[in-house]
Amino acid sequence: MEVIPCPDRDRAVALTARLIEARLRAKPDLVLGLATGRTMEEVYARVVASGVSFARCTTFNLDEYVGLPPEDPNSYASYMRHHLFDHVDIDPARTHLPDGMASDLAAAAADYEAKIAAAGGIDLQLLGIGESGHIGFNEPLSALRSRTRDKILTPTTRRQNAGMFGGDCGAVPKRALTMGVGTILDTRELVLLASGAAKAAVVARAVEGPLTSRVSASAIQLHTSCKVVLDAEAAAELEDTDYYRFVCSNEEKWDGYRDLL
Ligand code: F6R
Repeated sequence: MEVIPCPDRDRAVALTARLIEARLRAKPDLVLGLATGRTMEEVYARVVASGVSFARCTTFNLDEYVGLPPEDPNSYASYMRHHLFDHVDIDPARTHLPDGMASDLAAAAADYEAKIAAAGGIDLQLLGIGESGHIGFNEPLSALRSRTRDKILTPTTRRQNAGMFGGDCGAVPKRALTMGVGTILDTRELVLLASGAAKAAVVARAVEGPLTSRVSASAIQLHTSCKVVLDAEAAAELEDTDYYRFVCSNEEKWDGYRDLL
């Protein structure tokens, strides 16, 4: 794992966007794993502004609420159209989200896994982190080998996401269909972005704490190509930030990003 501490949110977001852009330019037929949430909104705005082409790109989102149709403004399908798909040259047929409206959620989950496999697996998976320690919607005690399936959302997550439902926790769906921790670990590269003081404690547990299903994000410690991009607030509770900075400042691969570090 590499931790990339950035001075502020703008630069952490810009660095993440530039990584996506670089991967797309290097491999136009990239299979890109996408995340939603507030953290990613500015990332997508920057990727759109970069003008990079998505014409040959295939995407798979991490998760979708159960019971919200794609046209519901709070569905992640709507989020993706609003923040990314409607503004780039992506072929809608190449965009995928789990089917939260399926009458058979287990079959929809298996179908999603099959589609990812048929696409050759995911090259780059974007991740946020929830205050409950989730990646995707893998809430505490998600098996570290889990595959796509439906999960009950924790009260913490429903509170965290209530803002998008008019501040009403009760309006946030109770379940979501999410890639599993194992599905996420199978991707070829992970980039996790976190910003803000509310994420500092959980980031420290995920990055420096023990590997535990209580914090599903700690599973990123098992991945052989994982970058964690943080602003100063989200990095505030890490113990070894000086070391992470030392590594970044000595790694040539970050030379093109020095303006953001
Ligand atoms: C969303 C997702 C979640 C979010 C996480 C952070 O697709 O998978 O894991 O990334 O809840 O959300 P924000 O960015 O809203 O704090």
